[in-house]
Amino acid sequence: MLEEKAQRPKAESGQAGLGSAADARPVLEVRDLVKRFGGLVAVDHVSLAVWPGEVVGLLGDNGAGKSTLIKVISGVYRPDGGQLLFEGQEVSFASPMEARRRGIETIYQDLALCENLDAPANIFLGREPARRRWGLLKELDERYMLQETQHVLEQLDIHIPDLRQPIRQLSGGQRQSVAIARAIYWNARLMIMDEPTAALGVAEQQKVLELVRTLRARGVPVILISHNLQDVFAVADRVVVMRRGQKVGERRVAETTTNELVGLMVGAERV
Ligand SMILES: Nc1ncnc2c1ncn2[C@@H]1O[C@H](COP(=O)(O)OP(=O)(O)OP(=O)(O)O)[C@@H](O)[C@H]1O
Ligand SMILES: [Mg+2]
Repeated sequence: MLEEKAQRPKAESGQAGLGSAADARPVLEVRDLVKRFGGLVAVDHVSLAVWPGEVVGLLGDNGAGKSTLIKVISGVYRPDGGQLLFEGQEVSFASPMEARRRGIETIYQDLALCENLDAPANIFLGREPARRRWGLLKELDERYMLQETQHVLEQLDIHIPDLRQPIRQLSGGQRQSVAIARAIYWNARLMIMDEPTAALGVAEQQKVLELVRTLRARGVPVILISHNLQDVFAVADRVVVMRRGQKVGERRVAETTTNELVGLMVGAERV
C-alpha cells in the first residue's frame, strides 16, 4: 500500500543522556520469553532489558537461541510464553513490518535486504512515498527516495558509487551500511543486528562498528549478535550470554574478560 507521504517518527529532541528522565525505563524489556520449535525449546524463559543509548552484545555458541530470540523481538515469530515491553508498553507484533513501524529495525543474519532492489527502494521498503499525478494516479516518488537516500548516506559517510544498482551487486559492508542507514533514516528506537560483520573484510567490519557507535551516540540502543568477541569488546557496553536457549550470564564489558565469556558460552562457568 502506498502512503501519501512517508511518515517518519519524530526523533527525540537531544539524546537520552545519563540520568535523564528517559533513562528511567528500558527501551526494551523481555520477560520470561519462551519460543519452542516442536519439542525443542529454542528460547527458554529468557529475560533481559535494553536501556537507552547502550550497545548490548548477545553472545552464545551456534544454536544457543540468539537469532530466535531476536526474531521474537522483531515480530518474525510469536512467543510461546512471556512478555515483550517496548518503551514501557506491552507489545505483540504480528509481522516484522509492525515492529519496524514501532521503531525496531533489524538486520537479520539470513534475510537482510531485498537483493533485487536498489538502495533507495530498500530504505523505503514498505513505506514508499507516493505523489499524485494529474490529481489522479499515484506513482512512487523515486526522485524523492533517491535524494533522501543520498542525503542519509552522505550524513553517515557511506559511499556507494551507483545507488541504482540492485543490492545484490553491492559488497557485504555496503549492504550492512544501507540497512543501518535505513534505521537512521526512520529514526529507529532500537537497532538489532545479527552477525553484521561475519561476512565482511577488515575495513568493512570497522565501518560497521563505527556505525554502531554512531547509533549509540544518537541515543539509539543496539543489540549486537556476534561470534567475534573482539567486536563485542570494541563496541558493547554490556553482554548477555545464552546457552541452549537459556540466559546463562550478563556482564558489563568493563568488568569481564574474553575467558570468562567463553566459559559462559561453553558452559564451564555459570552465574
Ligand atoms: N525455524 C526453525 N525451525 C526449527 N528449529 C529451529 C528453527 N530456527 C532455529 N531452530 C533451532 O533452534 C535452536 C536455536 O537456533 P538459533 O538460530 O536461534 O541459534 P543461534 O544462537 O542464532 O545460532 P547461530 O550462532 O548458529 O546463528 C537451534 O537448535 C536451531 O536448530
Ligand atoms: Mg543465529
